[in-house]
Amino acid sequence: MPARTRRPRRNDALSAALGYFRDLGVREVHLPKRTATPAPDVPVVPPLTVPRPARALPATAVAVEPAATVPARSRFPDLSSVQAAVASCQLCGLCRTRTQTVFADGTGRSRLMFVGEAPGADEDATGVPFVGRAGQLLTKMVESGMGLSRGDVYIANVLKCRPPANRNPEPSEIASCRPYLDAQIDLVKPSVLVALGKFAAQFLLETEEPISRLRGRWGSRGGIPVMPTYHPSFLLRQPDRKKEAWEDLQQVLHKLGLPVPRKKGESGS
Ligand code: URA
Repeated sequence: MPARTRRPRRNDALSAALGYFRDLGVREVHLPKRTATPAPDVPVVPPLTVPRPARALPATAVAVEPAATVPARSRFPDLSSVQAAVASCQLCGLCRTRTQTVFADGTGRSRLMFVGEAPGADEDATGVPFVGRAGQLLTKMVESGMGLSRGDVYIANVLKCRPPANRNPEPSEIASCRPYLDAQIDLVKPSVLVALGKFAAQFLLETEEPISRLRGRWGSRGGIPVMPTYHPSFLLRQPDRKKEAWEDLQQVLHKLGLPVPRKKGESGS
């Protein structure tokens, strides 16, 4: 009797997609309400959207089934496709409380990439990372401190949506957002990454060590040197720690082969 090939089951695609996110550590997904229709001008990137099942699943969180592994990388051809996927993302509950997603600032051709934690109220309102008080300090560190222009660097966050009341990101939210930052790093291919604060440092270096131990010491993510330093929000609360952050940024300038600008009052001889 000839061997019979199994016809693909109707929910194989769903299993594969859910398995993909399960392999990334995502434990639940939030399905759009059945009445929701995607904005017509927002392209949806198929592999990162969870396909609608043939049979209705509960409109709340569903358990992720075990399934095939799909490589996390190389799903996005360019930054605009990542941005489009972020704009329509509903992989965690933050999609319900955000005003808008906050993707990145910069051209994507930068040698230096900063990674922060998550948007705050100002970023949620404008859609641009690091524009509030912490952002103004970051801009000052880049421009007055490092002698670069903010437009020379690429800035993104671990989370693309604001956690309510600026609470810490949840591990499940970080896991849901992980493919986006991974893709941004893969596509920008910076020469150096600067991790701003605990959440960025722990994400990039895949460690649980505290920022106090990580800062100032080079790490690596996929061969890219990573310099963890203090988050500008922390520096606003503890200005006496700016000296250490400045030492970290000087190491970054050295690594990039760039001169360290003299501070006002320093003599050249
Ligand atoms: N803090 C962050 O970590 N990111 C922002 O975009 C703003 C504040």
